[in-house]
Amino acid sequence: AEDGYDLWLRYAPLEGEALERLETLSAIVAAPSDDPTERLAVSELMNGFQALRGRPDEIWLGLLSRPRDPGPDSITNSFGLGCSDQSVGGEGAFLVRTQGDAIWIAASSPIGCLYGAYALLRELSLGADPATIDIASAPAMPLRMLNHWDNPDGHVERGYAGRSIFDWWHLPERLDQRMIDYARANASIGINAVAVNNVNARAYMLEPRYIEKVKRLADAWRPYGIRVFLSARFSAPRDIGGLETADPLDPDVRRWWQDKADEIYAAIPDFGGFLVKANSEGQPGPQDYGRTHADGANMLAEAVGDRGTVIWRAFVYSAEDDTDRAMQAYNEFVPLDGQFADNVIVQVKNGPIDFQPREPFHPMFGAMPNTNLMFEAQITKEYLGFASHLAFLAPMWEEALDADTGHGGTVADVIAPVGMAGVANTGSDRNWTGSDFDQANWYAFGRLAWDPTLPSEQIAREWAAQTFSRDEDFIEATVPMMMESREAVVDYMTPLGLAHLMDTGHHYGPGPWVCDLARPEWNPCYYHRADADGIGFDRTESGSNALSQYAPEVAAQWSDPETIDPAFLLWFHRVGWDHRMPSGRTLWEELVHRYDTGVAQVDGIAATWAELGEYVDAERFRAVSENLAIQQREARWWRDASLAYWQSLNGLALPAGADPVP
Ligand code: GCU
Repeated sequence: AEDGYDLWLRYAPLEGEALERLETLSAIVAAPSDDPTERLAVSELMNGFQALRGRPDEIWLGLLSRPRDPGPDSITNSFGLGCSDQSVGGEGAFLVRTQGDAIWIAASSPIGCLYGAYALLRELSLGADPATIDIASAPAMPLRMLNHWDNPDGHVERGYAGRSIFDWWHLPERLDQRMIDYARANASIGINAVAVNNVNARAYMLEPRYIEKVKRLADAWRPYGIRVFLSARFSAPRDIGGLETADPLDPDVRRWWQDKADEIYAAIPDFGGFLVKANSEGQPGPQDYGRTHADGANMLAEAVGDRGTVIWRAFVYSAEDDTDRAMQAYNEFVPLDGQFADNVIVQVKNGPIDFQPREPFHPMFGAMPNTNLMFEAQITKEYLGFASHLAFLAPMWEEALDADTGHGGTVADVIAPVGMAGVANTGSDRNWTGSDFDQANWYAFGRLAWDPTLPSEQIAREWAAQTFSRDEDFIEATVPMMMESREAVVDYMTPLGLAHLMDTGHHYGPGPWVCDLARPEWNPCYYHRADADGIGFDRTESGSNALSQYAPEVAAQWSDPETIDPAFLLWFHRVGWDHRMPSGRTLWEELVHRYDTGVAQVDGIAATWAELGEYVDAERFRAVSENLAIQQREARWWRDASLAYWQSLNGLALPAGADPVP
C-alpha cells in the first residue's frame, strides 16, 4: 500500500522515452571503497536506478582497479563515481556530468558523492534526459539543521504527526530502522545536523545513560553526513551536577560543563554541540545570575572548544518587560553584537513574534554584523492549522530569505555563512509528517537550506513529481494549488498583517476575543488592539516604534499606512475601520473580502484535488481529500468567528455580496 512512508524517495518506474534513455545505462563504476558514505552512494544509485527502470536485476557494479582511474571515458553506458577530486569544492559539493554515454559524479569527499547520487536520482526521477544532465552544486550554507522539539517521554511539543520517532526507551541496544530511513531522507535533501531533543530541555538528557543512546544515533547517522546536537538545559549543573549554582562565571560551573563536553566528545567525536533556549518562557539562563546571554553562551563555547558549536536562541520575551514583544529580542541581543565567541551562533526566528502565517522578517537580521546569525523556521505548522490544513511553506520562507535587510544584503545573505534550522514536523505516523502534503515542507526546508535562491515553485514541482506523479497534467494542477495554499491560510486566519489570533495554548482555531490571560502578550487582544474605532498594532513612532529597529529604507517602506504593502498594514499600523485601501475598499470591506478569498481558495484547492484521483493511489488520495474537507470547514470557522467578533466591536454590517455569517 502507498502509505507515504517512502516520502519523495519513491523512484516510481519511468515510462516511455525517459525509460528508454535509462535502459542504455548498464553499470555503476566506482573505486572499491571502505568508506561507508561512498558505499551508500553506490547502493543508493543501484537501488534507485533499478527502481526507476522497474527491473531489479539488470545493473552491475563495476569496480575500477585503481582508486583514481582516469574516469569513465573508456567505460561506456555507465554511472561513475569519484569521491576524492579535490578540485570540486568544499563540504558537500559535487558535479554530475555526462561524458559520452557515461554519467560521472565527482566530489572532493564521500558526502559530496552521496549528495550527487541523490541529485542525479532526483533528476532522473523527474524524467530528465541522462544525456543532458549537468549539475554543479554546493551547499549555500554550512549548517542545514533540524531541531526536534521531541521530549524523552515520546511527546512532541507542537508535533502533529504522532509520537516522537526517537525510541529512547530501547536505545542504545535497539536501533529502529526508522532511524536509518530518517537519516536517508535528510541526506537526500542535504540536511547535515540534527538536535534530537526539545529546546525546553530536560537536564537528564546530558546524563551518561542518554549519552550512550545519542551515541548510537550519531554512529548510525554519520555515514549520511549528519552530526548530532543536544539541547542543553542551562541549569544542568544544579539539576544533575550537584552544584549550588549554574552561574556561568562560577569556576565550578565552568569545570562541570568542560567535563560534560569532554565526556560527550569521548563518546561522539563529531558531536555538533549544544542548542540552548535560555531566559525565555520560564527556562533558566545566565540572567538568573545577573549575567548576559553572551556570558552564558561563551561559557558553553569554551567547554566545547574547537570541537563544536553553541547555538543560542534569540527567542526571548519577558513577563516583566512591557515593551512591545516584537522588540524584545532585538533589544536584548543587538547591544551584545561582537561579544559572542567565534563558535557561538545566535539562532533567530524568521519573524519577531512567533512563526505566524505572515510576519515581516526579524529586525536582528543585518543588525548584528559581528555575530554569527542563523535562521530558524518552523516546519511543523503550529500556527497554520497543524497537519490538517494544507499550507506549503516554501513561499513564506522565500519571502523572509529574500527580504532586503537594508544593511547591505538580504536575510539569506546574512545567514549564508552560518545556516538554517527548521523545527521538525516528523512523528511516528506512517507518513512521517501527519499529512502527505506536510512532507513537502520538510523537503522544501532542506532544499532551501541547500540553496535559498531556489524558487518555491520549482521545489513544489520537484516534490510533487517525486511524491505523487510526474504526469504533466497532475503537476500543472498541483503546483499552483501548493503555491497559493499559504496565502489562503493567511487570508482566512490573519489577513492584512494581523497575527497571533489563534486560540490560546494549543493555537488551533480562532480566538481573537481572548483577553484574560495572566501575561498580556499571550492574549490575542494584545496583537489586534481592535475596538469600536479601529484595529491594528501601532508600531510607528506614535506607538511602540518597532519600526525603528529596521534599517531606514526598510522602515520607510512600512511607515505610512497609505503606501505600505497591505500584507503588513495591521502589523505596523492601527487604522480606522473606514481606512481607505489601495483597492478602493474600506479596511472593513477589505478584511471581509480577504476572509472570503481565503475560504474560496481552499474550496478551489479541494475542487482541483478532487479531479486528480487518476494520478494518485487511492489511499493517499483519500487521505488528502479528507484533510481538505476539514480545512474547508475550518476556513469557514475562522472567517465566520473572526467576522462575528469584529462586528461585535465595530457594529458594522457585512458589505453587500459577502457570504452571510450563519
Ligand atoms: C512557541 C511555542 C512553544 C515553544 C517556543 C519556542 O512559543 O508555542 O511551544 O517552546 O515557541 O520556540 O521556544
